[in-house]
Amino acid sequence: MEKGEVIGKGRTAEVIYWGDNRVLKLFYKDFPSSIIDYQYKVDTLIGKIFPNCPKAFKKIEENGRIGILYEYIEGIVLREFMGKKIKSVGKALRMLAELHVEMHKYEIKDINSQKNSFKLAIQQTDLLDDDQKKEIIKYMEKLPDGNTICHGDFHPENIIVSENKLYVMDWSNAYSGNPNGDVARTFYVLKYGLAPSDEYTIKKSFIHRFFFKAIKSLVAKTYIKHYIKLTGISLKEIKIWDLAIFAARLREPVPLEYENLLKMINNSLKHHK
Ligand SMILES: Nc1ncnc2c1ncn2[C@@H]1O[C@H](COP(=O)(O)OP(=O)(O)O)[C@@H](O)[C@H]1O
Ligand SMILES: [Mg+2]
Repeated sequence: MEKGEVIGKGRTAEVIYWGDNRVLKLFYKDFPSSIIDYQYKVDTLIGKIFPNCPKAFKKIEENGRIGILYEYIEGIVLREFMGKKIKSVGKALRMLAELHVEMHKYEIKDINSQKNSFKLAIQQTDLLDDDQKKEIIKYMEKLPDGNTICHGDFHPENIIVSENKLYVMDWSNAYSGNPNGDVARTFYVLKYGLAPSDEYTIKKSFIHRFFFKAIKSLVAKTYIKHYIKLTGISLKEIKIWDLAIFAARLREPVPLEYENLLKMINNSLKHHK
């Protein structure tokens, strides 16, 4: 591979091969430097604790943009691995659960706390009114605490399958907290998460929508069943985090999900009354 070749593009940055087994995650212009600083801090701290993440070397400036230099991980993202053979789907989802269980064995201090991260996101959304926000935050504050490493955006696109190891990328949303909240977030994304490229499928016809939903549901179930099997926690201990996860998700730029999120949040709030 040549230095300068773009190997990944996301919402916040492009990832460029930088030679010598390194990549540069180069953030787009005007992306807040405080968020880049947080990501670099988290990468450095987690890199010392959890062996399945690429090493972060340093922050650099390139043509007026800020970037973080990482160890290059050769492989394919887990989403691609899943798509290779129908047989690989179940295997990939069990690998996803196993890696999540492994991550949740480690503790971390000195990074954002889960409840603060969720609270901030909930306070910042324009899609809920103040009373709803207050009620959700009050409910969330009563949930169990923890100081486990939580990734905050753990899904098949943020995992690279290399020759004999899985690596977790993109720790920009990481926090210290109760792992069951992190599992509820992954379950949500697998079951209800929609990328802009899904718009065509969900608007196509009832039958397309039906199969699309059924597959996503099965995918999410396979992951969570395996996580539960390996840890012995109950589904209920995970589900109590849903309301906070749904409300915090409203802060993210995922407009295709908002209608469903608001429906689920309102149902859940009615339940609490
Ligand atoms: N250290 C790395 N080695 C190899 N590929 C990487 C590395 N970091 C990121 N990538 C690739 O770039 C993509 C985007 O990186 P990511 O950190 O997830 O950025 P974003 O915040 O934009 O989602 C990843 O899905 C992966 O394919
Ligand atoms: Mg990513």
